[in-house]
Amino acid sequence: MKIESKEYRTIWYEEEVVKIIDQTKLPHQFIIKELKTVKDAVKAIKIMEVRGAPLIGGTAAYGIALAAKENKDLQFIKNSAAELIESRPTAINLKWAVERMMKKLSGINSDQILDIALNEAKEICDEDEKFCENIGINGLKIIEDIYNKKKDTVNILTHCNAGWLATINWGTATSPIYHAHKKGIPVHVWVDETRPRNQGANLTSYELNEEKIPNTIIADNTGGILMQRGEVDMCIVGTDRTLSNGDVCNKIGTYLKALAAHDNNVPFYVALPSSTIDWDIKDAKDIPIEERNSEELSHIEGIDENNEIKKVFIYPKKSKSMNLAFDVTPAKYVTGLITERGISEASKNGLEELFKK
Ligand code: MRU
Repeated sequence: MKIESKEYRTIWYEEEVVKIIDQTKLPHQFIIKELKTVKDAVKAIKIMEVRGAPLIGGTAAYGIALAAKENKDLQFIKNSAAELIESRPTAINLKWAVERMMKKLSGINSDQILDIALNEAKEICDEDEKFCENIGINGLKIIEDIYNKKKDTVNILTHCNAGWLATINWGTATSPIYHAHKKGIPVHVWVDETRPRNQGANLTSYELNEEKIPNTIIADNTGGILMQRGEVDMCIVGTDRTLSNGDVCNKIGTYLKALAAHDNNVPFYVALPSSTIDWDIKDAKDIPIEERNSEELSHIEGIDENNEIKKVFIYPKKSKSMNLAFDVTPAKYVTGLITERGISEASKNGLEELFKK
C-alpha cells in the first residue's frame, strides 16, 4: 500500500539486508531500518519496530535467514529459532513461521542453506500478501451487502492496527475496507485509539489517511455509545491467535468491543490468514497472554512544537500500573471469521469446513 503515494511492503530483502519500516516512529517520522543480524530481528520484534501477528511472522522468517547468513551451523540457527520464538509470546504466526523455516532447512547442506532460507522467507511473505488480498475480496461482500441495503456510507469500527502495517501488505481487518474503497463504496472508519501504545491512532489512522480513506480516531471507550446510536454498521478486527473453536485472542479491549457489538446487534467480524489459527490449544486459558512493561501506560510519546519526539510521564508518581497486551473474545460474540478461503462461522465446524476438508 502507499505512503506519500509510493508503494511499499512492510518488509523486504535488499542489498543483503532486511529492510523494515520502523513503526515506533510512526506517524511522526518515516524511517526505513536495516536488520543485519538475527539479534536485530529479535530486537525489532521485542521493541515493536515491527508488530502485528503476520508481520512478526514475516520478520521471524527473515530472522532465520539472517541467522543462516551469519553462521551456517545448524545448532546456531536452532538457538536463534528459540530466541525468535520467545521474542513475543501471543501471536502464533511467530512460532508458525519459525517452524516452517526450520522444517525447510532441516537436512540442507551448508552451501545451499542461505539461498533456501531467503527464498522461504520471501515465500512466507508473498503468501501472506496473497492471503490478505483474498481476505479483502471475501470481506468486501459483507461491506457491499450493508451498502446495498443502506445506500449510504458504511461505518466500520476497528481496534488496534490490523492494517497493512501489521501484515506484509493489505492488512487483515483493513483489506475488505481497502477493497470496498477501490470499488467506490463509501466507507468511513471509526479508529479505536488503542491505549496504551495507540496503534489505532498512530498506525491505522495514518495508513488510512495515506490511502485517502475517511476515518475518525475515537477514545477506546467511545465505541459503545456509537453502537447504541446506530453509528457503527459493523466491526472488523484482526487477531493474534484464533483457536480451532473460534475463540479470538486480539489486542486488549477487543473483548469489550465485541460485548458492546453483541448488545447492539452490530455484526462483529474477525479477519485472519490461516497462519493465525492455533489448531493445538483447546482452551483459551492456555493462550500465553503477553504482559508488557507498565511504562507503556505511565508514559506517553508525541511530538513537541519543534517536531521532536518526546516521552512524558503522565501518572501519579506513586501509582502502580499493569499492562496486559491481549484478551480473548469468546467465539459466541464473533459473527464470522473472514479468511483467505472464505467466511466461516467462528466454531470448530466452521473452521474445519474451510481448512481441514
Ligand atoms: O501488540 P501488537 O501491536 O502486535 O498487536 C497487534 C494486534 O493485536 C493486531 O490486531 C493483530 O496482530 C492482528 S494483525 C493483522
